[in-house]
Amino acid sequence: MLVSKKSLSRRDLLEDRRFAATRYYGSKRRQIGWLAQHLLELSPTHVLDPMGGTGTVSHALSLLGIEVTYGDLFRFNVQAARGLFTSNKENVLQARRAVQTAISCDGIITREFSGMFFTDDENRWLDGVMKKIGFGKAEGYRNVLFYALAQACLKKRPYNLFHRANLYMRLSDVPRTFGNLVTWNTSFVDHINTSLLDAIRVSESLVAPITVVDACDATDHKGNFDLVYVDPPYFRKKSSTDSYMRRYHFLEGLANYSNWHTLFDVNSGVKEFKQECRPSEWDSADKVLAGIFSVAETYSRASLAISYVDEEEPSIRRITHALKKVRKKVRHVSIATSTALSNSTRREMLIIATN
Ligand SMILES: C[S@@+](CC[C@H](N)C(=O)[O-])C[C@H]1O[C@@H](n2cnc3c(N)ncnc32)[C@H](O)[C@@H]1O
Repeated sequence: MLVSKKSLSRRDLLEDRRFAATRYYGSKRRQIGWLAQHLLELSPTHVLDPMGGTGTVSHALSLLGIEVTYGDLFRFNVQAARGLFTSNKENVLQARRAVQTAISCDGIITREFSGMFFTDDENRWLDGVMKKIGFGKAEGYRNVLFYALAQACLKKRPYNLFHRANLYMRLSDVPRTFGNLVTWNTSFVDHINTSLLDAIRVSESLVAPITVVDACDATDHKGNFDLVYVDPPYFRKKSSTDSYMRRYHFLEGLANYSNWHTLFDVNSGVKEFKQECRPSEWDSADKVLAGIFSVAETYSRASLAISYVDEEEPSIRRITHALKKVRKKVRHVSIATSTALSNSTRREMLIIATN
């Protein structure tokens, strides 16, 4: 562990502005100081973050001098993480030039997504910029531009999601009780330029290396990890919960732009991916429970730290019961927290299982 090289106290981490801004559902940005402190107490040397999402936890561990392997099931998350962690001044400059000179054109977004998520002009611009990303020679530039574009797409969407074709919420001329209109109507170029600054700040701050692995299931990683940090989806007890695929299919489409037309379901109201084209997400309480057990068995020598919230499915009791079969000690720590989309308080948990 290289903590002495650049030592950050828990307080520094909590207040640190180096973490990239994000609207991603389930990001650990708000709890990162608390979480990182508990992970640090386990004295890991190489952590696997196989459900890495925005990469916030991988970033925090790198700042603490701990080597990390980042993974996620979805290509859009992996490409964005590559952009975030490997950007440099040159590829950010190239990305900036590319968005300034992108020429709007007709493409799959203009043809298939009219009236759903963005305006027709924005769709034509998106097709234009995706063409630029496709033809870009340098991988670094393509990744950092993709990262910033994905952030811009999230910012310009009601609820920051693609689960409903609700462009009308942005466009209807009604008195508003909530104030996202300015963000929605800020141009892609302006949002992208803001996120490019974030990317350069993040990549320059890294201390220990972060390896970003191609999109794969949480159990498919190879390596000698002494800690696996698992941040699974969870499911509401009383109502249905959208899957990550449902929330972000449009971004996964962007990450598969050249063959997107073969992936989406024409009969879906939001043109979500066809069932057979979806990667095998942990999209039910039973799959999360089975998945956690399988992660514990796959990385049998590693300690596990599992982020969770109270009162959701599968219950903490069931997860703890499953973990007790494969690790000697299981304990919990928790903190009161609120989510980005609501101010209601709940308890953020960390389940720690060690040998
Ligand atoms: C709660 S989010 C993780 C958030 C992340 N810790 C952060 O701070 O941004 C859960 C993640 O699990 C990923 N995921 C779902 N099923 C998966 C699977 N089978 N293997 C790997 N990742 C999966 C989703 O894509 C999503 O990014």
